[in-house]
Amino acid sequence: MILGIGTDLANIERIQGTLDRFGERFKNRVFTEVEQRKAERRKDIAGTYAKRWAAKEACSKALGTGLAMGISWKDMHVTNLRTGQPVMQVTGWAKERLEEMTPEGHEATIHVTLTDDHPWAQAFVVIEALPISAVQGASG
Ligand SMILES: CC(C)(COP(=O)(O)OP(=O)(O)OC[C@H]1O[C@@H](n2cnc3c(N)ncnc32)[C@H](O)[C@@H]1OP(=O)(O)O)[C@@H](O)C(=O)NCCC(=O)NCCS
Repeated sequence: MILGIGTDLANIERIQGTLDRFGERFKNRVFTEVEQRKAERRKDIAGTYAKRWAAKEACSKALGTGLAMGISWKDMHVTNLRTGQPVMQVTGWAKERLEEMTPEGHEATIHVTLTDDHPWAQAFVVIEALPISAVQGASG
């Protein structure tokens, strides 16, 4: 079953402006070390940050919370598989929220997809719950 969906469109030029203005302070508040390392070795640094910004916003919508004051942006973070496919990982309050919304006997999976075409970066997030028996069946 689908537990939540979320989407966000981020303007890469606005993110570039924030990077220019606040630099490390902005990066360290919003992005994990892994996200920063990925972005900083890319040609399109702002575009890479903008996709991850959109992913965090989209994930907060799928979690049904939005980005209320005081939450940690770094508790929703994107890594990439070797194939390049993005993976959304949650820790802290976001993980707690995910657990709260997951029905008993189910396991939640967060699906995320990202794209960018200057000046826009976009993310979609879908949170799916599968019965634990189905998850074990698939892996066993
Ligand atoms: C995946 C692919 C379609 C992306 O298309 P694109 O027009 O270059 O880029 P877009 O702006 O639409 O999307 C980029 C995002 O796609 C996602 N993406 C990349 N590879 C992906 C994959 N295998 N599966 C799902 N999503 C993928 C990433 O999130 C990426 O953003 P990020 O690197 O900042 O996380 C394209 O790169 C492709 O066909 N690659 C072929 C596979 C390949 O070369 N793999 C190399 C490693 S084996």
